[in-house]
Amino acid sequence: MAGVSEIVVGGSVLALAEGDITRFTADAIVNAANSRLAGGGGVDGAIHRAGGPSIMAELDRIRAEIGSCPTGDAVVTAAGDLPARWVIHAVGPVYRDGKQGEPELLAACYRRALELAAAHSARSISFPAISAGIYGYPVAEAARIAVSTVASGLRQGESSVERATFVLFGREVFDIFAAALDRQGRPSADG
Ligand code: APR
Repeated sequence: MAGVSEIVVGGSVLALAEGDITRFTADAIVNAANSRLAGGGGVDGAIHRAGGPSIMAELDRIRAEIGSCPTGDAVVTAAGDLPARWVIHAVGPVYRDGKQGEPELLAACYRRALELAAAHSARSISFPAISAGIYGYPVAEAARIAVSTVASGLRQGESSVERATFVLFGREVFDIFAAALDRQGRPSADG
């Protein structure tokens, strides 16, 4: 079942795409990183493979300065060979049981990424499904949090971001996000 693939929120577009985020052009690409900023598998691995060594070299300098990036926060680097200007390395929560603050920390990642995108005057941003892979977040819940948090960030309107796209790996995750976007796009009960 595929729901909608884009809605208009606060004058910006919130969209979905299916595929490899490293091949999707945007001013800012969000990475699903770890607090050590050490690279890894999944999106992190793909971003460093496609972006080249300059991204890790910049993370080495940032790590030397701040030590580590707290869960729910993010740091920005240039994008190396990726089709982007910035990479926003966001650290999502490892899912345990949903009662250890995971929802709030996941929402914080998306809010922080939008803040950093606006601070860099990015007009477009792409997001993976943060924490929904190796970090084990149940996809439907991660999608609900992701879509509602980014929609409310765009609705606040002060952001430079004109287009935010979730780039999902595989049809199953895409359809789950499409259902979440469909719910987000419906006029709320209070009009
Ligand atoms: N493009 C888009 N989405 C991708 C890609 C890609 N190239 N590769 C993986 N994904 C999807 C996964 O299928 C999942 O739906 O991104 C989502 C997030 O998965 P992970 O990359 O595993 O990220 P996360 O669950 O946040 O775990 C972060 O994994 O790679 C390590 O260093 C990283 O320790 C950190 C942890």
